[in-house]
Amino acid sequence: MALTTLVTTALLWPFDISSAAIQAPKAPVFRELGSLPAPGFFENIAIRPSTSSLLATRLTGGPEVYIVKDPASSTPDFSLLATVPDLDVLLGIDQLIPDEEACAGEERVYVVVGGKTPTGSPFDMVVGSAALYTVTFPHLDNDEDVEVAHLSALSADTGLVNGLVAVPGGVLIADSLRSRVSFYNVTDNSFTESAYEYPEMTAPEGAAMFGINGVQIRDNHLYWSNTALSSIYRIALDDNKKEGCDVRPELVFNASSIASAVDDFNFDIYGNIYAATHFDGTIVYSDAQTGEMKVVAGGIGEWDLAGCTALEFGKGEYDQDTLYVTTNSATFGNETRGGRIVAVDF
Ligand SMILES: *[C@@H]1O[C@H](CO)[C@@H](O)[C@H](O)[C@H]1NC(C)=O
Ligand SMILES: *[C@@H]1O[C@H](CO)[C@@H](O)[C@H](O)[C@H]1NC(C)=O
Ligand SMILES: *[C@@H]1O[C@H](CO)[C@@H](O)[C@H](O)[C@H]1NC(C)=O
Repeated sequence: MALTTLVTTALLWPFDISSAAIQAPKAPVFRELGSLPAPGFFENIAIRPSTSSLLATRLTGGPEVYIVKDPASSTPDFSLLATVPDLDVLLGIDQLIPDEEACAGEERVYVVVGGKTPTGSPFDMVVGSAALYTVTFPHLDNDEDVEVAHLSALSADTGLVNGLVAVPGGVLIADSLRSRVSFYNVTDNSFTESAYEYPEMTAPEGAAMFGINGVQIRDNHLYWSNTALSSIYRIALDDNKKEGCDVRPELVFNASSIASAVDDFNFDIYGNIYAATHFDGTIVYSDAQTGEMKVVAGGIGEWDLAGCTALEFGKGEYDQDTLYVTTNSATFGNETRGGRIVAVDF
């Protein structure tokens, strides 16, 4: 989630077309799968591997989780799935235990994080108000009978919770106010405020945006985006626990020459990175082998991915080349559209 809503910044942003000079080699096809009334804001996305359905959290306008069933079909089915009580805004979402590690008949549990804000803006999130909720699917092969339950409050010093990713035994949560990653242990209900904390999670002095935003796990590394630096860093998951190690985070993605910010990000099956730039309305790609970076979808001043916040590739039989993208609301000229869920078919 970026610092101000696109409704404001689209009007003020100094569009520099030269900074978006590197464009996609092939034009992707965009399909809108669902939308909120303006100024609705979709913040994050998760996928149910067993049904291929998409889950999207709503940031402003209601603590809600939406679902898109059959997202790869010509008749996707978009609807409200669940409302989380006692919170005002929702942010990160992830499946607690991946399907391949869960028991066959076991229910499937998603964890969402959010907080309270008197104004409705996430930037006014009350310190100490953040909480985790579960959204549980009792059945593996359908999306019915979902149950919402309070999982845990977080600590009194927890600020603007943002990205969330599951790890064995719990979830890691990015805190954009405190510039750190916290750990919630689902076994003993304990909470570690500073599970990972590095200068590379902070924004530079005077920056208009915050630092850490999205978090992902790949190859036993924690990856995070730093919005203000348009960058992504990683560190081996266990390195901070080893005695005597002075391991520094590694910069793996720096889009500052082609993007004004980086929101959430994800990987394809080859480990290439795709990052949502929010304000630019573009997806920046980084090749895992060559390090080459380019804009592969969307464009500054275009509607297709305006306000893009998060993304994930499909996990079904027919949509593994489809990137599902959530967006903030956006304004161009006198037209405002609410947050959308968009399929990008490469
Ligand atoms: C979570 O807590 C349990 C019980 O205290 C402990 O055995 C386990 O190692 C903890 N998990 C992690 C990942 O720290
Ligand atoms: C990213 O690259 C730019 C040059 O394009 C450089 O000025 C900046 O310091 C780099 N960012 C980081 C975090 O190293
Ligand atoms: C929006 O702007 C366009 C072009 O500037 C104009 O033609 C149109 O009438 C405007 N629509 C409204 C509802 O103001």
